Amino acid sequence: MEKIVVKGGNKLSGEVNVSSAKNSVLPIIAASILCADKCTLENAPMLEDVFVICDVLKSISCNISIDKQSNRIVIDTSDVTCSEASSDLVKKMRASFLIMGPMIARFGKFKISLPGGCNIGTRPIDLHLKGFTALGAEVNVGHGFVEAKANRLIGNKIYLDFPSVGATENIMMAAVTAEGETIIENAAAEPEIEDLAVFLNKMGAKITGAGTDTIRIIGVKKLKGTTHKPIYDRIEAGTFMVAAAISKSKIRINGANEEHLKPVIAKLTEMGVIMEIAEDSIIVDGSKNLKPIDIKTMPYPGFPTDMQAQMMSLLCCIQGTSVITETIFENRFMHAQELKRMGANIKIDGRTAVIEGVERLTGAEVKATDLRAGAALILAGLVAEGTTEIGDIYHIDRGYVSIEEKFKRLGAEIYRIKI
Ligand code: EPZ
Repeated sequence: MEKIVVKGGNKLSGEVNVSSAKNSVLPIIAASILCADKCTLENAPMLEDVFVICDVLKSISCNISIDKQSNRIVIDTSDVTCSEASSDLVKKMRASFLIMGPMIARFGKFKISLPGGCNIGTRPIDLHLKGFTALGAEVNVGHGFVEAKANRLIGNKIYLDFPSVGATENIMMAAVTAEGETIIENAAAEPEIEDLAVFLNKMGAKITGAGTDTIRIIGVKKLKGTTHKPIYDRIEAGTFMVAAAISKSKIRINGANEEHLKPVIAKLTEMGVIMEIAEDSIIVDGSKNLKPIDIKTMPYPGFPTDMQAQMMSLLCCIQGTSVITETIFENRFMHAQELKRMGANIKIDGRTAVIEGVERLTGAEVKATDLRAGAALILAGLVAEGTTEIGDIYHIDRGYVSIEEKFKRLGAEIYRIKI
């Protein structure tokens, strides 16, 4: 077991390079199943979740080489078999369910363990299954498994009741070699969906409209391997933007994409944070006095739920009353309890959190309750009086590459200890 220890009070300075987006790389690795060929990912983030989905592909006989020095992943799916993916691995990370669409497209059938829920919500897959059924698959759920069969997939028009990121990705991947045209309406528009479509089109797919709420896919016969450099991680970039704001520092964040960060830039600007947008970096100056604000998480291009916990840490330190409404997940305020151990003043009522800014947070022993909550506790620790010890940091390592090293290079007093 490990902990991250943060001693509060240091200002940050200098610059930080964000890694490639976890939530782009995971569906792209799943998509490589669609061709019996080699795909190469450059500048891939060396993250626990990436290693898990690679292990899932290995469990169905993909050959994968991961070069941690050059951040390169080469996936050879020539020998993929339609065997059952390892249930333990699928349960370990729900994003593994993203191989369902590609496997149905390639083999016409697949059986996989139902992905677990997680701390932040039940995480249903009904919209994924609705899409597979609309494409002509016969889908059965039972005994903790999902099984889908289809002699051939036929393009169709599919309306998503909710713009689910995973469902949009799974359906898009199932449809790329279906017969005829598929239209996904009320599709998720996150940048990671667009990046997946870029990858698929480089493989020979015919996808238009990714990044909007209507995606059109014309089925093609065959796909081939390709090489791809994923987009940068907008949530990691946003996390460091909040770090500058909460510690009243000025830092440069390399790899921050203004377009992808519009909602975060808008809300931090509303608080009084000064930002200077450069080509592919943002200089963030949090030294001014900041105002409290209200935030409502929404599907992209609304404010991202994956930035909610980080913003809560910041708002705990801003004099006045702020309100956060979490509309995406039903249980994504668990970090509030941990922040209250540090002296925060937060009242939770269902999907609404009312935050009264306090003069000072105090260091405490806390636990990461999910990936972004863990990052939020590091942010709070940067400015808390005394030392903060964060447990269950395996959550953080799922989505942030060497987070404590990056903060240390910015001047934070932070280190990882084995316990
Ligand atoms: C993706 O999860 C991300 N994960 C999440 O990031 C992110 O928080 C989420 O999108 C929302 O932006 C990856 O990309 C690997 P959804 P996903 O399907 O696809 C409901 C992180 O921190 N829903 O858009 O699972 C669901 O209950 C992680 O990196 C259905 O009702 O999210 C939820 O309320 C956490 N039926 C809402 O949609 C379905 O079939 C959003 O879920 C699917 C989803």
